Amino acid sequence: MLIGSASRLATVLAVETSCDETAAAILGGDGTILAERLLSQQEHAQFGGVVPEIAARAHLHFLPDLVRMALADANLAPSDLHAIAATTGPGLIGGLIVGAGIAKGMAVAAAKPFIAINHLEAHALSPRLPGLIPGGAPFPYLLLLLSGGHCQCVAVQGVGQYRRLGTTIDDAVGEAFDKVAKMLGLGWPGGPALEALAREGSPNHPLPRPMLGRANCDFSFSGLKTAVAHLLAPSEGALPRTEAADIAASFQSAVSDVLADRARHALALMPGATMLVVAGGVAANAQIRAALSGVAAAHGLPLAAPPPRLCGDNAIMVAWAAIERLRIGVYDGLETAPRPRWPLEELRGTG
Ligand code: KG4
Ligand code: ZN
Repeated sequence: MLIGSASRLATVLAVETSCDETAAAILGGDGTILAERLLSQQEHAQFGGVVPEIAARAHLHFLPDLVRMALADANLAPSDLHAIAATTGPGLIGGLIVGAGIAKGMAVAAAKPFIAINHLEAHALSPRLPGLIPGGAPFPYLLLLLSGGHCQCVAVQGVGQYRRLGTTIDDAVGEAFDKVAKMLGLGWPGGPALEALAREGSPNHPLPRPMLGRANCDFSFSGLKTAVAHLLAPSEGALPRTEAADIAASFQSAVSDVLADRARHALALMPGATMLVVAGGVAANAQIRAALSGVAAAHGLPLAAPPPRLCGDNAIMVAWAAIERLRIGVYDGLETAPRPRWPLEELRGTG
C-alpha cells in the first residue's frame, strides 16, 4: 500500500524478534530515541546456539512487558504513535510470528498503520540514524553486512534499493566466530568472547585467508574454521589459555584480512560509493573495524559503523527503517505474512 504525504515527524514503535533478542523501541520521526527495551535471551547458552522453539516462547513471554515498559519510558500511549512496525523477516519463523502478531494487534487496537521491516534492511539503514554521523550516511554507500546469519556486500542506492555484490558461499562470518569460539571452549555467543581472548594473544599461527585476491566480493569461512579444528586436534581439548589466545588472535587476524580484501574488491565494483559502511553483530569487533577503516581510507572514503550496542540486533534500527519507509510513503497491509527467507533485492523502494 502506498500513501502519499507521510509525516516527517512520525513517532514509531518497533519490535524485533527475528532471532534471540527480544526488543522494543520508540523513535521520534527525526530519529530521536524516545525509549528502548532489549532483552538478550540467555536460555540458549546451555545449548551452545539458538533453539528456535525456545526463542519463540521467550519472545511471547517477554515482548508484551517490554512494549509496555517502552511506552511508559517514553510517556506515550499507543494512540500517540503514528505507526507500529515489526521485523517480519528474514529470521526464525516462530519469533517473526510473535513479533508481527503483537505489532499487528496493537496496530488494529490503536487504529495505526503497520509497517513490515526486513531485518537486513534495518541493519543496512542503521548508519543513517541521525546522531551517529552528522546528517546520517548519504546514499549511495557500500555496505558490509556481517552478522551471525548473513555475510554480504551490498550496494545501497536508496531506501529499498539494494544490489547484492557478493555473499558467503558457506558460513556467515559471525557463525564462524561462534563455531571457533565453541572449539576453544568459550561461551555463547562466541564473537565477543573470542575477541576478548584474542586481545591476550598473538596472531602467530599461519591460517588460510579464503578467497583472498578473488576478483569478486564473495566470502568463505568453512576452510578457515576447519584449519582451526586441525590446529586444535592434537591438544584434545586441554589447551593452555595462552595457546588458546594465540589461536583466537590468529583466527581473528585471518578474518580481518579476508574482510578487508573483500571490501577492497567490493569498492572497486562500486565506484560511486560515498562511504564504506559496516553493520551487523560482527561490526562490533574492534580489529575488523580498524581493518575496514584502513581500506576505506585508502579509497579516500570514511568508514561508518553504528556504535557497538547498535551493531547487534535491536529494535532501534527496526524503528529507524520504518521511519525511512514512512518518509517514502510505504506502509504494509495487516495481511503481510512473516518471511523466514526474504532477500534484500525483493524490497520495494524509491526506485
Ligand atoms: O546481527 P546479530 O546480532 O544477529 C544476526 O542477525 O545474526 O549478529 C550476531 C553475531 C553472532 O555470531 C556473534 O558472535 C557476532 O555477531 N558478534 C561478534 C562480536 N559481537 C557479536 N563477532 C565478532 N566480534 C564481536 N565483538
Ligand atoms: Zn541481525
